[in-house]
Amino acid sequence: MEKITIKAHPNIALVKYWGKKDEQLKIPFNNSISLTLDNIYTLTSVEIIENSEDKIIFSNRDITQKEKNRVINFLDIFRKITNKNNLKFSIITENNFPTASGLASSASGFCALGIALNELLKLKLDKKEISKLIRLGSGSACRSVYGGFVEWEKGVFTDGSDSYSIQIADENYWDVRMLITIIDDKEKIKSSTNAMKETVLTSPFYQSWLNTIEKDLNEVRSGILEKDFEKVGKTIEHNCLKMHSTMFTSFPSTIFWQPETISIIKTVSLMRDDGLHCYFTIDAGANVKILCLPNEIQKIKLYLNQLSGIKNIIECKIGKSPEVLL
Ligand code: PMV
Repeated sequence: MEKITIKAHPNIALVKYWGKKDEQLKIPFNNSISLTLDNIYTLTSVEIIENSEDKIIFSNRDITQKEKNRVINFLDIFRKITNKNNLKFSIITENNFPTASGLASSASGFCALGIALNELLKLKLDKKEISKLIRLGSGSACRSVYGGFVEWEKGVFTDGSDSYSIQIADENYWDVRMLITIIDDKEKIKSSTNAMKETVLTSPFYQSWLNTIEKDLNEVRSGILEKDFEKVGKTIEHNCLKMHSTMFTSFPSTIFWQPETISIIKTVSLMRDDGLHCYFTIDAGANVKILCLPNEIQKIKLYLNQLSGIKNIIECKIGKSPEVLL
């Protein structure tokens, strides 16, 4: 039996997606822009098996029933479009980074699986179509179909047919780096799906968040194209703080941050006062990601090494599109 193995990279949002207009179809309320990361990745192998059920294995850890169901629901989409309801799959997947701690493991995971199924089932779907299917597995995963800088268009149609990702610039366009500080590698306190849902329903700031998104997207998109590091950096920090403010003010509130998160935020600001070029962003977790320039990484690490509580720093260049491994 043929086996397909795909290597896909996570992406980190510079302008965040936060909130779904349609929960089932994973249609977001706003566009988002991300950076695909090299160095960290998911490897997923898929083959068709003669079995009564799918076999799903996470190499580094046990899989929960909830995670299993989520993968099976995603496989059902492919069974449906191929009209082969009895098809069963064996899936082995591993990440070379901590999962579910705000490091976008679901993004690289669902992206790798979607692309593997496209290859295995010989669907010949182009990036736009595969991005739409991957979106149904995990929203932010649809951005990982490209390397470089990527924008996920929210679209206007209620069926989600125009909600997919496009590439703004590839991985060779601009050499910026991202440092991922790991302060917490445990499972996050709440899923982003639940935190988002509560925010949309209860935060008095949610509409204000949406009102400012268009401006942030324009700044970051044009900042990337102009290679204006300060323009991109200032906007991504503000965007991140606005997103977290909607969570702080939801009911019940969601505070993913740890004391170390604040220490790093303050250190980033201090480093800027000292003339370094660096800006932070934080996703649904406590870990802080720092956007910086290649020639300043060593100096930035000297500052970070003085802080307690950082377990690891992962250094990433801009990553490329998913690859089929032979
Ligand atoms: O697609 P999800 O459910 O992993 O949510 C992603 C949410 C953020 O990482 C906080 C923002 C984003 O755009 O990736």
